[in-house]
Amino acid sequence: MKVAIITGASSGIGRSAAIEIAKGGNGVILTYSTNPQGGLETAATIEKEGGTAVALPLDVSEAGTFVAFRDRVSDVLRETWQRDTFDYLVNNAGFAQTSLIEDTTEETFDRLMRVLLKGPYFLTQKLLPLMADGGAIVNTSSNSATAATGLEPGYSAYASMKGGLDVLTRYMAKEFSTRGIRVNSVCSSAPRRADGTASPTSNSQPSPTSGWNGQPDHESTHRPPQQLGRAMCADPSLPPGSVRVALRHAAWASELDDGHHGHRGFA
Ligand SMILES: NC(=O)c1ccc[n+]([C@@H]2O[C@H](COP(=O)([O-])OP(=O)(O)OC[C@H]3O[C@@H](n4cnc5c(N)ncnc54)[C@H](OP(=O)(O)O)[C@@H]3O)[C@@H](O)[C@H]2O)c1
Repeated sequence: MKVAIITGASSGIGRSAAIEIAKGGNGVILTYSTNPQGGLETAATIEKEGGTAVALPLDVSEAGTFVAFRDRVSDVLRETWQRDTFDYLVNNAGFAQTSLIEDTTEETFDRLMRVLLKGPYFLTQKLLPLMADGGAIVNTSSNSATAATGLEPGYSAYASMKGGLDVLTRYMAKEFSTRGIRVNSVCSSAPRRADGTASPTSNSQPSPTSGWNGQPDHESTHRPPQQLGRAMCADPSLPPGSVRVALRHAAWASELDDGHHGHRGFA
């Protein structure tokens, strides 16, 4: 059985990703921070559906705790799956805080940086020794980092970190390719209707994807978080480019805002 670690799975996209990965027959280690109840509920949902999940506490803003977290992961892998390694990592934990540039404090900026950029960087670094060759990493980015669709006043600090995460995704993909580890990022459009429905412009047919060239792709959607989670993790065991392919296989994956193509590379 393959095993995935999903950060920030006590609600939203992370919870959905954890549940969908488990449905795919994978074991799940999920993390929560301030909402242990939410983490336990995600694990209970997975167990109820016949899967196996372990919920662990993790504050991704505290890089100094990552080695201890890795030790906990090692123990859990051994005790629960009789394994020394895991296969998939979803760097999803995050929060948004908005303020105009003129009002943004260093404290706000630093907290966003620690959670959204430094956290995924060093958590991945610390977990890499436990990661099996041929695995996959998905980083949860944001459309706010892409000027074409997401430029909104107030998101400067948040979006800067997500933009940094996009760059990091590319370097991870490059460096980890020697071990056959695929790295991609997905992003959800910040604005979506309260009822979670797609925007009126989201009626395009799935667009043809460009050829996989070892670069990570983005995906965006107005759909609610559980659907993004479902798609981003539809089948992480697919060959290189799998996340993009998995997204393409989701019927709604190309229903994008503003008429943009569903599969944008970095070229
Ligand atoms: N929803 C959107 O429209 C949207 C758009 C673009 C990008 N995103 C990105 O998608 C990811 C998930 O967002 P969501 O919408 O699903 O939000 P959510 O429902 O609020 O879930 C956020 C998750 O991240 C965890 N988290 C927050 N700060 C953390 C920290 N310091 N350490 C560890 N875990 C932490 C939370 O844990 P606790 O609750 O247990 O503290 C929770 O499990 C984020 O990276 C967000 O930036 C979301």
